[in-house]
Amino acid sequence: MSDSSIRQVIIEHCLLMNKNGLNQGVSGNISVRFENSMLITPTSVPYDQMSAEDIVEMPMDGEYGTWFGPKAPSSEWRFHLDIMLSRKDVEAIVHVHPMYCTSLAISRREIPACHYMIAAFGGINVRCADYATYGTEELSTNALAALEDRSACLLSNHGSIATGHSLPNAMWRAVELETIAHQYFNSLMIGNPVVLSDDLIEETRIKGFSHNYTGQIC
Ligand code: 13P
Repeated sequence: MSDSSIRQVIIEHCLLMNKNGLNQGVSGNISVRFENSMLITPTSVPYDQMSAEDIVEMPMDGEYGTWFGPKAPSSEWRFHLDIMLSRKDVEAIVHVHPMYCTSLAISRREIPACHYMIAAFGGINVRCADYATYGTEELSTNALAALEDRSACLLSNHGSIATGHSLPNAMWRAVELETIAHQYFNSLMIGNPVVLSDDLIEETRIKGFSHNYTGQIC
């Protein structure tokens, strides 16, 4: 894919995350690895007014934090860049403020193995990163710790991060994460959710997933 078509695909996914109720207003941001750079959404630009040129390029082999574009990068560029730099398996990142992930994160709860789909995030849980102010190095450090051996995490009193081997894959995880957060939230309301064993989750993780992003959210 060329640089310009990736920029267009990023905008399309930004529009999808709001259309699907994963996000609202100008919160949330998306990045994609492209050669030795990261392409990331600009800060505070409504997605329906975003053009391909507004997507910011941040080289990963130059001075840390350098960016090119008519607009400044997302205020969350640090955790996007730090994840890309330290996790070679990650090609794309979707950060959003969805209702149920954020509600659990306000209660500082991780998501346990309440559904077998937890294995789609790499292990027996999705952790909740410790709180730090948005855009800070501390938030990036906390997010990286919560993402160890995982492809997603919650951010205390903030939202969620989902990663993937492609942007559709990261978006699929963002949608699945919000879905499982909603299911876990409901089961807490009913009471006594049953958590699956580590062995059952490992069996599912090894079996793998052929699911794809369908553009729908439950
Ligand atoms: P940006 O508009 O700077 O990407 O910030 C939105 C956001 O979600 C901050 O957490």
